[in-house]
Amino acid sequence: MFHLVSSGFIPACRIIGVSLDELDADGLRKIAREAIDQFSSHKVNEADWTAFSATLEYVPMSAGPVALKAAVDAAEASLAGESRRLHYLSVPPVAALPAVRLLAEAGLVDRSRVIMEKPFGTDFASAVSLNARLHEVFAEEQIFRIDHFLGKEAAQNILAFRFANGLFEPIWNRNFIDHVQIDVPETLGLGTRSGFYEATGAFRDMVVTHLFQILGFVAMEAPTSLEPAPISEEKNKVFRSMSVIEPRNVVRGQYAGYRSEPGVDPESDTETFIALKCGIDNWRWAGVPFYLRTGKRLAEGQRIISLAFREPPKSMFPAGSGVGAQGPDHLTFDLADASKLSLSFYGKHPGPGMRLDKLSMQFAMHDTGWIGDVLEAYERLILDAMRGDHTLFNTAEGIERLWQVSLPLLESPPPVRLYQPGSWGPMSIHQLIAPHAWRLPF
Ligand code: BG6
Repeated sequence: MFHLVSSGFIPACRIIGVSLDELDADGLRKIAREAIDQFSSHKVNEADWTAFSATLEYVPMSAGPVALKAAVDAAEASLAGESRRLHYLSVPPVAALPAVRLLAEAGLVDRSRVIMEKPFGTDFASAVSLNARLHEVFAEEQIFRIDHFLGKEAAQNILAFRFANGLFEPIWNRNFIDHVQIDVPETLGLGTRSGFYEATGAFRDMVVTHLFQILGFVAMEAPTSLEPAPISEEKNKVFRSMSVIEPRNVVRGQYAGYRSEPGVDPESDTETFIALKCGIDNWRWAGVPFYLRTGKRLAEGQRIISLAFREPPKSMFPAGSGVGAQGPDHLTFDLADASKLSLSFYGKHPGPGMRLDKLSMQFAMHDTGWIGDVLEAYERLILDAMRGDHTLFNTAEGIERLWQVSLPLLESPPPVRLYQPGSWGPMSIHQLIAPHAWRLPF
């Protein structure tokens, strides 16, 4: 919010923080300043900070709906003209409905939009029920189910890359693509989030949300336009065609030492790692495996999508020439903030004979001078929600279908296997992907 306000995207606003903590406005300002100092990618201008900090107010939950309404009324009275409200529910699934009810009791529904954080529900039944309860208070066009991976520049670049060029779309299918990997290992541990993480785990925290949404962008058909409804419809068609996640196609892991982290059950069964194979049973993708992996305390922090091309029908290169030795040719999207895209292929190594090496063509956002224009994922999405643009948000139907696809796994999860912090996960991830191999580490 500080960046959006200080760079002029939001001309005037008031921000009211609400939580269980017994803070006051100065307490919130202190937290905000520390967060900006720690995480801001821009240098903080003190005049901007002074102006921004004056927009911050705080109401503890314990003060109740009447105090919240009074704070909102006072904030609105200090702004010229009629204002709009954006409620951002950055709360775990169990607190989502109580927060919505609080807004209803406070009379803060009209002129309002609401952003719901992921995970939306914890399984199919809870997501269906949450949508139904939510619709009793807010109309669908007021609801923004956020998934910050879709706000990443590189994720949106998948759409530009696929549909603004003639080169790749003709081969973007089962006839040319052998398999797809969506791989998001993290070096991060739990931080201060053990309470949230214990109840959530890697599948709900990352896969049913971020990784499946990215899969939607990779696999969807061309929408009729870039409007929200056609994009959601094409993504939802992918989700409808997804086969259910079979427990035998899943590796759940937990890093050694997780059970002794503060706030973690010493017998916890929560997975801190997950790798799975899934498929999309439609004309474009039938038979093409999609491999997804993510986890905490792994060897490297990466966010890549890699499409491996099929082998050529016949190889005339002699054994030992190096062809295929470094895996198939690939197209790889790197979802980092400074995103990259690379096409790896075999080419001739200079000198006598025919020795082949893996080469690559790359686009790196760093080299373009565009990097200063990048809005962080949450900045982009909050701005879109303020403008009422649903394009990069999820629909009730899409989310419910993803929970439905996950039912067999959630009902019979395979046991967690231990892995060493700093590794790439349990050893069985190699059997899961065989005869292919994980693209990472590069
Ligand atoms: C969040 C998850 O949604 O995404 C975290 O709750 C995870 O566990 C994070 O670390 C990853 O986001 P990013 O943008 O840093 O890749």
